Amino acid sequence: MSDKPVIAVLVSGSGSNLQAIIDASERGEIPCRVGLVISNKTDAYGLVRAKKHGIPTEVVSHKDFSGREEFDARLVEILRKSGAELICLAGFMRVLTPVFVRAFPNRIINIHPALLPSFPGTHGPRQALDYGVRFSGCTVHFLDEGVDTGPVIVQGVVPVYCDDTEDTLAARILVQEHRIYPMAIRLFFQGRLRIDGRRVMVDGLPRIPEFFHRNPDA
Ligand code: GAR
Repeated sequence: MSDKPVIAVLVSGSGSNLQAIIDASERGEIPCRVGLVISNKTDAYGLVRAKKHGIPTEVVSHKDFSGREEFDARLVEILRKSGAELICLAGFMRVLTPVFVRAFPNRIINIHPALLPSFPGTHGPRQALDYGVRFSGCTVHFLDEGVDTGPVIVQGVVPVYCDDTEDTLAARILVQEHRIYPMAIRLFFQGRLRIDGRRVMVDGLPRIPEFFHRNPDA
């Protein structure tokens, strides 16, 4: 067993972000390994992905608990035992209470399929389409006690096209999610992130030369 720091990943569904994190870890692109995958759903495909890589899994069904705090307390108990240094929410579709957030201060990160603070909550791509924005994207952020309100670590931008459907836009965003999630984890373990109020300061960041994009490009 490697002596790399351990992360835990929480999923509810397909787990394609989990897969991107596992792949990045196996390729040595992030200096940690996935030591535990937790799902609140027994049929989450993310659990299958974890098992294929020999990663321990736990199912904690929210339906077995009388309230959100009780559910969160059980998650906290399991995560403390796992020794995870970072907890990554990757399509984990439960709102977490302060019981969870306060147990791991600045050690929980989440990915969201929109350019926060726009379009928080569920159906980020659909909200972006309905609003009519020309760009959308994805955000990795630290978890705070709000819904998708924590300090932003990395964002990735994609264009929104007139013939997009919710599915085509979500798929375009997902490609970028798979790039920015491992990036955020790498920056975390390299010790390059410092939270300063709402802002996350990143050490040694290059500027993007002549950054200008427009849509439509007419
Ligand atoms: C991803 O698009 C993720 O950003 C989103 O769920 C999907 C999970 O996909 N999360 C949210 O909407 C959270 N509010 P995955 O299971 O294939 O990683």
